[in-house]
Amino acid sequence: GHAEFGGGPADEVHGGHAGHGWDGPPRQRGDRDVSELTGPRDRPADVAVELVAARDGGRYTLNGTTPGPELRVTQGDLVEVTLVNESVPDGVTLHWHGVDVPNAEDGVAGVTQDAVAAGGSHTYRFVAADAGTYWYHSHQVSHAQVRGGLFGVLVVVPRAGVAAGQDVVAAVHTYGGEPTVNGADGLRVDAAPGEPVRLRLVNTDNEVKRVWTAGAPVRVLAVDGRDVHEPDPVTDAAVTLPAGGRVDLGFTTPVDGTTVRVELGGVAVVAGPPGAPDPPVSDPPADTVDLLRYGEPAPLGFDPAAADRVFDYRIGRRFGLVDGVPGMYWTINGSMFPDVPMFVVADGDVVRMRIENSGADNHPMHLHGHHAVVLSRDGVPATGSPWIVDSLDVGRDETYEIAFVADNPGIWLDHCHDLPHAVDGLVAHLVYT
Ligand code: C2O
Ligand code: CU
Repeated sequence: GHAEFGGGPADEVHGGHAGHGWDGPPRQRGDRDVSELTGPRDRPADVAVELVAARDGGRYTLNGTTPGPELRVTQGDLVEVTLVNESVPDGVTLHWHGVDVPNAEDGVAGVTQDAVAAGGSHTYRFVAADAGTYWYHSHQVSHAQVRGGLFGVLVVVPRAGVAAGQDVVAAVHTYGGEPTVNGADGLRVDAAPGEPVRLRLVNTDNEVKRVWTAGAPVRVLAVDGRDVHEPDPVTDAAVTLPAGGRVDLGFTTPVDGTTVRVELGGVAVVAGPPGAPDPPVSDPPADTVDLLRYGEPAPLGFDPAAADRVFDYRIGRRFGLVDGVPGMYWTINGSMFPDVPMFVVADGDVVRMRIENSGADNHPMHLHGHHAVVLSRDGVPATGSPWIVDSLDVGRDETYEIAFVADNPGIWLDHCHDLPHAVDGLVAHLVYT
């Protein structure tokens, strides 16, 4: 298999007034110096952090904890992270999942850098250009290292600061069959009656989660670090949280002093005044919010109809040999590892991609270095807020069409974030000429 696998403005509110929090169209060519393949190295960093990776049996830590420390930086900051590998025998890297960093900072072992051997270190530098919820994880033997805890959350706070109220991360991760949130068996958020809460959900597992809430209506404020335009309140519907994906929920705790309970698949977040009784698990709603028609339309900033390149990403499965090992392997456009497709683009291209899943499983497809807008699912066009993703769950027998501007030169992975699927071949590359 593969070596590497073997923001919103200040007045953004949490569910008060729709219409705030829209961060505008996705960034395009012209907003950055595209000649830069590495982060700036000519000036002091605004935030400098050292993360020390260690392994103890099957458990991995960063600075002694699992998950690693939450990094909270401000939009526009030059972030410098020095990764030190204290004792991980297979080597480590850090990938900034969802952050559209310059290619050399992407942290993909065997593609953008060598894995950092035990005793070694590597420094990442990038400007946190886009506010939002992201995470970082090792991209070396990542199916084992992410599972074992080598990850953490990165929040890029809007330049103008976060809104009033609680702004809290909830990273869901399963260790040895036990679901956790931020490494614990549940999360309690102290919030006064009537206080707004922004809950930044991160799914670091391989499986898609269905998230639902009892106690107050919620809004989906952002998906994969990109604000939803004019999100409506949701009652009685679940929200899909793909593997690798992030969803920011906004709600206001009830004024009567009761709590809001968010179900995250075996663990929960409870927000309310300290001492308020824990509400019981609520029943899963039958409905699911369809992001294809959630929120209000807004300009994209580019025209997906004027595509310079159109690609097919057809996912299948067949019997074969990889490294001499027989088994069932994932295929892309009929090809199996190492004959993985290279989707070749030129800088500035508008790219449309059709992702068709005729496989026997769902596939959370993650595109590095870019965000894409979802155009349609099974031929049904998107009609809501621009739904902008870096991690898109493509269900069995579903076909999505997405579009993005190729504005970040380099070699980028486009792979399934059910990481054992990536081991079994579900990896393609986006390559700039
Ligand atoms: Cu979150 Cu290629 O990974
Ligand atoms: Cu998959």
